Amino acid sequence: MVITIDGAAGVGKTTTAKKLAKKLGFRYLDTGAMYRAITYFFIQHQVDIESKDMVISSLDTLKLDVSFPIDRPTKIVLDGKDISQDIRKKVVTNQVSQVSAMKDVRKKMVKMQKEIVNNGNFVVEGRDIGTVVFPNAEHKFFLVADYNIRAERRLKDFDNINEKLDLSDIRNDLIKRDKHDKNRKLSPLKKAEDAIVIDTSSCSVDEQVESIYKYVERV
Ligand code: DC
Repeated sequence: MVITIDGAAGVGKTTTAKKLAKKLGFRYLDTGAMYRAITYFFIQHQVDIESKDMVISSLDTLKLDVSFPIDRPTKIVLDGKDISQDIRKKVVTNQVSQVSAMKDVRKKMVKMQKEIVNNGNFVVEGRDIGTVVFPNAEHKFFLVADYNIRAERRLKDFDNINEKLDLSDIRNDLIKRDKHDKNRKLSPLKKAEDAIVIDTSSCSVDEQVESIYKYVERV
């Protein structure tokens, strides 16, 4: 069974998806981490993202390994190195929207995501999971929250990796990134018609998980 959780940055997808997966005994896949890994790879290898040829040839050399330790973030290993922490840094965050809008990148990632899930029991989080990657998923959820709450959550995330940022800068970045993710041509961030909307602005994580869990159990 596949449960999709889509939504913008900071709406609570990761915490919710991880806890829900644990409660159900499912595995959890963070597809945003995969787009971040490609972005990190492009930065490391100084890939000119304006050059289609360079992008395609470097994607061919990519050795990305994605794994799912229970109750822990999706683990991303690139060329043998664990980059799960590095992909959270600001330098990656700043460029990931642009990289994830590229056709060849998305084609490769969507193929990988389908291979990873391969009919298993998964909670998959992202932007286009219910609309494009798994349109036939049994359960689809779309999380939303207001900008101030989202910015505060992201500030804490950066704090956890010792990056000190300003709340209003984060808020502005979120607005900019949402605009980009919602308006891009390919697989824009949008609610699947049959997805259930959960507003997490004033919910605790446990409440969010419980409300989704109830929907899943009901069917
Ligand atoms: O969830 P996140 O902030 O880690 O995601 C990083 C970026 O990846 C985000 O700006 C949009 C992109 N993304 C995407 O295009 N499709 C997905 N399925 C997941 C993330």
